[in-house]
Amino acid sequence: MSGLATAAGFARLWPRLRLTVPGWTGTLEGRSLYSFARDGPGEGAIVEIGSASGRSTICLARGSKAVLREHVYAVDLHIRDTLDAFERNVRRFGVDDWVVTVVAPSDSVVDVPAERVRLLFVDGSHTYERVRGDIEAWLPRIVPGGVLVFDDYFGTKRGWGVRQAVDELVASGAVRSSLVRVGTHVWTIKL
Ligand SMILES: C[S@@+](CC[C@H](N)C(=O)[O-])C[C@H]1O[C@@H](n2cnc3c(N)ncnc32)[C@H](O)[C@@H]1O
Repeated sequence: MSGLATAAGFARLWPRLRLTVPGWTGTLEGRSLYSFARDGPGEGAIVEIGSASGRSTICLARGSKAVLREHVYAVDLHIRDTLDAFERNVRRFGVDDWVVTVVAPSDSVVDVPAERVRLLFVDGSHTYERVRGDIEAWLPRIVPGGVLVFDDYFGTKRGWGVRQAVDELVASGAVRSSLVRVGTHVWTIKL
């Protein structure tokens, strides 16, 4: 039953979101974020690292709001001057009451009051050092059974190190060893 409602909710959202909000999140990835936010395991906040104009944020927030679950903390320095567009888009899609805008470095846990996080989406800087820093900063806040999603694990651009940082996380034994691929994303579960 929730599968049908989730599919319908995303289908109502996606065409207008894709057309009117620029971003890096595609259909597969957007549907997956919506679904984790709406139906995913655990209890606790949703934290997104890297929001840009809000495409992925809106997927997360609309999913969670559809069933009145937790709010989304959207952490981004808005390096490319995206803050105004982000706030406008979040309002336009009716989730300004579900999104907490955090303009701060991605590892700034002190700027997020939620102590328990059930869903972490990492899509900020893709360098090895930053992704590793993001993991180290946020992992203690993620509840056992909570979901971690990483964008661009398979990316091969020079200077990117998502794969190395995520592989080290898996090797540490803190998460399930099986990574599940959804488009450009991989996800796993905290043990
Ligand atoms: C790829 S974009 C995010 C795309 C977005 N998730 C979407 O679906 O369209 C990456 C974002 O990470 C932010 N960013 C990069 N390095 C950061 C850092 N150290 N701290 C906070 N945000 C950062 C940038 O400002 C940019 O908006």
